[in-house]
Amino acid sequence: MHHFQYHSGVLHAEDVPLPNIAAAIGTPFYCYSSATLTRHYKVFTDALAGLDSLVCFSAKANGNLAVLRLLGDLGAGCDVVSGGELKRALAAGIPGEKIVFSGVGKTSEELTLALENSVGQINVESEPELNRLNGIATKLGKSAPVALRVNPDIHAATHDKIATGRREDKFGVAWEDAPRLYKAAHDMNGIDVRGIAVHIGSQITDLAPFEAAFSKVAGLVNKIRDTGIDIRTIDLGGGLGVSYKHDNATPPSPAEYGEVVKRTVGDLGCKVIFEPGRVIAANAGILVTKVIYVKPGETKEFVIVDAAMNDLIRPAMYGAHHDVLPISEENAGSPKTKMDIVGPVCESGDRFVRDASLAALKEEDLVVFMTAGAYGAVMSSTYNARPLIPEVLVHGESFAVIRKRPKVEDLWVLESLPDWMDD
Ligand code: LLP
Repeated sequence: MHHFQYHSGVLHAEDVPLPNIAAAIGTPFYCYSSATLTRHYKVFTDALAGLDSLVCFSAKANGNLAVLRLLGDLGAGCDVVSGGELKRALAAGIPGEKIVFSGVGKTSEELTLALENSVGQINVESEPELNRLNGIATKLGKSAPVALRVNPDIHAATHDKIATGRREDKFGVAWEDAPRLYKAAHDMNGIDVRGIAVHIGSQITDLAPFEAAFSKVAGLVNKIRDTGIDIRTIDLGGGLGVSYKHDNATPPSPAEYGEVVKRTVGDLGCKVIFEPGRVIAANAGILVTKVIYVKPGETKEFVIVDAAMNDLIRPAMYGAHHDVLPISEENAGSPKTKMDIVGPVCESGDRFVRDASLAALKEEDLVVFMTAGAYGAVMSSTYNARPLIPEVLVHGESFAVIRKRPKVEDLWVLESLPDWMDD
């Protein structure tokens, strides 16, 4: 359930008509709904009732400070994967102890930053990282709170590029190697072994791979405990999928996911950490764009909009689908035309929608790509010298620009001509 609905024939974000925002700040822009973010966070945490849990929103899905602050105020922690995300989370007011630091390639500088800011948990993904962290922590006179991320060799049915729990993926330590590494970590002065972590991929719409992975992890927790090493936290990662098509079968609910968690790891007496991103943010955001031209083609129309693949890369990168809605409901009822909806970037891959039969669109019409609140703005680039687009947060009848549209000149502000070139 989200708060982007038609009222009196006009698409609104909560109580704000989207054309009002477009008139105020121009297009394209991302628009997020506070009520939807709040609702999704609450649905997720309600599903975990009875567990000692911490929900660390995955900043990679949407790292805007206002979004992180909103979730932080609701009690969320943050899952970060770089020093930049760590600083973002801190800047948004998330306390260090509610931050979990994941990722296969944390640098010495990033590990130092994490220790200096007393993050709650560092999810270590390899033996060299463990050794590096031990060295840094020892030098700083600290003990690093560590979980080992294990690779359970579980195949989740999702896009190949975002499956992470298979033996051949770069993530986590090999399952068979985990007991040896726990022993090594336990013996290190700079390491405080806290727990275990697993994340098998993203946009997973079937509970079976979660159940298989969590059961395997529960078995490993018992095995490690048998060696005299206590495991106090279990981090189950993120990955719960959402529906990108309004007419699609709905993915499992957080409540059903919660049942799987309780069934598999609920009795271990551990604090259970979650790192959801998409399920909280995806349907809480949209991309609003305007039609520049309608170009008749030989077999279909090309509707050329002012957003492009640099603003929302998911269709070009993963062949992802985002539902398209006209801002005026009247348009939705007009006769259907076969069209591609494309952006202005000079690549054929800059296409949001292919061969769709949609209500006709004309110049200046506003259209919306749904389900763009996760992995939208965060993955945007300035390709084709297109400045990043603004982000707006709506709250009831109010809206605020939470990231401004930069000036195009800002794109080259850090560039300079070498002194051997003429002025
Ligand atoms: N934890 C870890 C360690 C992760 O790698 C990820 C996502 C998450 C949590 C959050 O997963 P979520 O709950 O959002 O599924 N750019 C892709 C998605 C990449 C996901 C990467 N890791 C997309 O647009 O579909």
